[in-house]
This record gives sequence, C-alpha cells and structure tokens, in this order.
Amino acid sequence: MCGIVGYLGPRDAYPIVIEGLKRLEYRGYDSAGIALFDGTDLKVSKTKGKVVDLETQVEKEITKHGNMGIGHTRWATHGVPNDVNSHPHSSNSGDLVIIHNGIIENYESLRKELTSRGYTFKSDTDTEVLINLIEDVKKKEKVKLGKAVQIALNQVIGAYAIAVFDKNRPGEIVIARLGSPLAIGVGEDEFFIASDASPFIEYTKNAIYLEDEEMAIIRENKDIKIRKIKDDTLVAPYIQELQINLEQIEKGGYDHFMLKEIYEQPKAINDTYRGRLLRDEAIIKMAGIEDNMKKFLNANRIIIVACGTSWHAGLVAEYIFEDLARIPVEVEYASEFRYRNPVITENDILIAISQSGETADTLAAIKLAKSKGAFVFGVCNVVGSSIARESDAGAYTHAGPEIGVASTKAFTTQITVLSLIALRLARAKGTISSSDYRHHLLELEMIPGKVEEALKSDALIKSISQVYKDSPNFLYLGRGYNFPVALEGALKLKEISYIHAEGYPAAEMKHGPIALIDENMPIVVIATKKGHYEKVVSNIQEIKSRKGKIIGIVTEGDVQVKELADHVIEVPETLEPLTPLLTTIPLQLLSYHIAVMLNKNVDQPRNLAKSVTVE
Ligand code: F6R
Repeated sequence: MCGIVGYLGPRDAYPIVIEGLKRLEYRGYDSAGIALFDGTDLKVSKTKGKVVDLETQVEKEITKHGNMGIGHTRWATHGVPNDVNSHPHSSNSGDLVIIHNGIIENYESLRKELTSRGYTFKSDTDTEVLINLIEDVKKKEKVKLGKAVQIALNQVIGAYAIAVFDKNRPGEIVIARLGSPLAIGVGEDEFFIASDASPFIEYTKNAIYLEDEEMAIIRENKDIKIRKIKDDTLVAPYIQELQINLEQIEKGGYDHFMLKEIYEQPKAINDTYRGRLLRDEAIIKMAGIEDNMKKFLNANRIIIVACGTSWHAGLVAEYIFEDLARIPVEVEYASEFRYRNPVITENDILIAISQSGETADTLAAIKLAKSKGAFVFGVCNVVGSSIARESDAGAYTHAGPEIGVASTKAFTTQITVLSLIALRLARAKGTISSSDYRHHLLELEMIPGKVEEALKSDALIKSISQVYKDSPNFLYLGRGYNFPVALEGALKLKEISYIHAEGYPAAEMKHGPIALIDENMPIVVIATKKGHYEKVVSNIQEIKSRKGKIIGIVTEGDVQVKELADHVIEVPETLEPLTPLLTTIPLQLLSYHIAVMLNKNVDQPRNLAKSVTVE
C-alpha cells in the first residue's frame, strides 16, 4: 500500500507534495515523509503519524524550499511504523533518495549481499535495501541514475511503485512500477507523480499511467522518457485526459468522506446506469457485454472473484445471475482462488469486482484465469486501474472517487452494474419475460429516489446508535439476497468502530450463534417483505424469546416485525433482487454513527488502507 507523490517544475514542491499526501492518505497513514531539493540542499523530514504530524514537524525542522520534491504516506509492511522506517529512505552515501509503495520480496538476500560489501542499514525496511542496491549498481557499473535503477530493478522480486532522485543530478526524477499504480501528471512545464491522479487534478488534466514493468525518467526541461525495465525498449508516452475534478474528491461540507459517500449513493447509482439503461426502448446497452455476448451465452459458468466488500457485492450478484439469467455462478475470495489450483476452462467467465482496481489478490486471480484461457470481465470503479486494464472487457461503476476507507457507494454501484448485466443476459437468454424485464428496468430507475427515502431515517438511526454504541458484540442476520447485506453490515461496523460483529444467514443462527444471544446482544435483522419474510419473522421470535435486542430493517408499512422488534428502520419497497441496494443504507449509517460516537477515525480506521496492493 502507501501513497507516493512527487513534483518537478518551476513551483515550490512542498505545498503540492504535502497536499497531495493528504489526498493519498487513504492508501496508508501510519507514517509520512518528504524530501525536498533546491539544487544544492537536500532536506528530508519524516515521522510516524499522519501527514498533519509531518506538516508540524516540517515547520520546525526544515526550510520548505525546493522545486523538486517527493513525499510518502505509509502503510507498514516491513518494519513497524516508526520514524526510522518512514520514507523517504536515503542511500549510504546520502546522495540518493527513494519513496516506495510495494514489497521487495527478496530483500533479505539482497540485504545480506549488500551488508557483506560494507553497506549499513538504519531501518528494517525493504526500501532501504533497494536504494542501496541502486547505489551499489551505480558505483559498480559507473552508470547514471536511470540505468542504475533499471539494472537494480531487474534483480528485484516483488512489487513496487518508486520515485528516486540523485542530488548530483538536479532536475531529474526516476520512477518505475510493477504491481503498484503510478500516474504522471503532465503540466505546461512541470511534472507531477502520484499513486493516483488526485494530488495533481487542480494543476493538470493530462496524465500518463505507467504500465507494469515500465520506468520513466522525468527531466525539468519537459522531457520524459519511458522504457521497458526488462529490455530497455522505448515506449511512446500515452497522455490521457482525466475525467475527475477537485470537488469530487473533497468533503463537500460533510464531516467525513464516508458520510458524503453514503449520501452520494442516489447520484452514484444513477451515474452507473445512465446511458446504459434505456427504459423507453427497454434496452440495456453495455459495450463490454454486447461485444462478447456469444461468450456470455455459451459460458459454462461465471466465477466471481473479489475481496471484502466487493466480494459481498459478488455474493449478491450470484443470487441475481442465477435467479434471473439462470447461469451457474461461483463466488470466490480472490486470495483463496489464486492459490488453490482451481478448475478453470476456456468456457468459464471470470468476473473480477474491485473498487480500486488495484487489489493484488484480485489481480493475481485474473492473471491465473487468463492463463487457463478464461475470459475476464472487470467491474472496477477507478478508471484506468490495473484490473480494468488487465481484463478482456469490463464495465466501470462510475461511482466517482471513493475516499473513505469503508466502502459504501462502491458496493451499491457494483450491485447496480451487476444487475444490469444479469438483466441483459436474462433478456438475451429468454429467461425473463418481457414484462418482468420492463418491470425490473422501471424499478432500477426508481432506486436512486428510494435510496433518498432510506437516507431520511438518518436521525432515527443516530438515536439507535446512541443506545447500542457500547455493545461489545453485534450480530447481523439476513436471508437470500439480504444474507450478503448482513455480512456487509457486520464488516462495516467492525472496520470503523472496532466492535466485534458477525453476519449470518438468519436460518444458520440456530446452528451456533444463538448461543451468544442474551439481553445484552443487539441483533440487526433484515426482514423486508419479499423473499423469506415469514421465516425471518420466526427467527426474530427465537431471538425475542432469548431476550436479544432486535433492530429490524423492514419494508415501509411493516406491522409484524414492528410488534416484535425493539427498533425498526423502514426502507421503501422494491423488487427482491434490488432490495440490497436499499437495506444496506441503514447499516452503513448505523456503523457510521456508532464509530463517530466512539470517537473513531471513520475515514481512516486503524490498520486498514483503501487499496490493498499487497497480498
Ligand atoms: C471494506 C473495504 C474492503 C474492500 C476490499 C477490496 O469497506 O473497503 O473490504 O472492499 O479491500 O477492495 P477493492 O474493491 O478495491 O478490490
């Protein structure tokens, strides 16, 4: 993980790098650091803690001048988060400086080798090994920085996005990537470097995304050279125009990004189906599906791979695809799938779901499936991300940037895209009647309005949160389409409030979790009118007779659950396959309010990072 930023141009680098780091803090936030160079003096400042702590330290420690700068916000992999392990790291001579996102897997053997040749190390990091390896190559081979980086990277096993400079070569930064993202912002007479485009969006809309195994040498005189790390081939820079703006990545008056993103869902869902769902003509138009329709119609099965919240969206999709399109679906944790020698054939379709498009395990699962001849379809939010590029075809969710570490709008927009695909395939296969199909399209178009309605329970949910905020455990139950929603509700609560929570299919309760229920246990039960309502009501009775505290998520106008539950939160009625888009809203708000009341860092919960680019 980790976020990296750099600047080279006529302005002072400091404000650009520090503000950029704040935008990238979602990628890791246990320590931060910066290196500034004005052509003569190299200044490095780094500290355990957040970017604001770095800012305070910089004020006391160094002058902020220099038109070349690199900065780093860290999510520790090798070495605990402390000042010494923070980036940037310098080489033994003090001439070279590096920031790095990723893991160098063979760093132990490289470290031993370098130690035997007299190199010493201050930190426990793989990054300090890499910068000394570069220095060693540079001296031994008598080459310039760019060449030394290239030779060193060919000796490295692992993943990286790096930015390096040499204080003897002012006005030059060398960057490279393998497995971790890296974007270059191209201004009039300046360059920006970052893990994603957010740090430079107000300066330039022109960006180059480095591909895996590419490196670039960026020079002050507007010069950029991109090469393949392995064989030194020159690559022509492909500049693309960015579609995001600054407003999209700022908080817009909300206390937290997570709350902003929860409230953005009506718009995000609308953006997801806009231009794809043409209700008047009763058409769903998605290029990635139309172009590959034959493959989808002839597929033996669909395998969905994802992690975390995206995996929960995959579980919802399993119900939708099987129910509407009658295609067999398996949903796999990408991290398990990639290592378990799965049976994959050319007639399988792999759908990879990922908000960031950078999750290492999901990316590896794609590569494995492709190597066995399967067709890969990516469902990503971040445009141009590694998973989007690695897929044979795909569909973006168009949720806009998701900054809060806890995923919210990514989940609902993933379900929206997957619903569109399932409906399109169902229509093509003839497994849905024309009237049901039209009904689904109509209902899908009404979802943004219904999410608005569901959001109106915010104040009620806040008051319920006050009652249960100190409970050490929560149970979440749901059935059918709402079983994955129960899992997602539990994940949201534990990741931002650190309260232990479990999600279960409601009927499984009696096979174990029922033993946990007493008068202190809050149980969130999703009991909407469709599906297995009566059965869930029976489960609620069972909880009630064990004195558990029941928070029911019910359909507007519900009577039965209201009589049994301690609290009910209503959501509007919709078709059963679309209920997760509504029932998930109160669960997001519940976890949000509890975390705020417990004074937790909602947008940057401990130990987590927004994109998990390590396995
Ligand atoms: C939870 C959360 C994570 C991610 C998971 C996969 O709120 O955000 O569980 O869903 O790390 O990330 P993506 O979707 O970027 O592949």
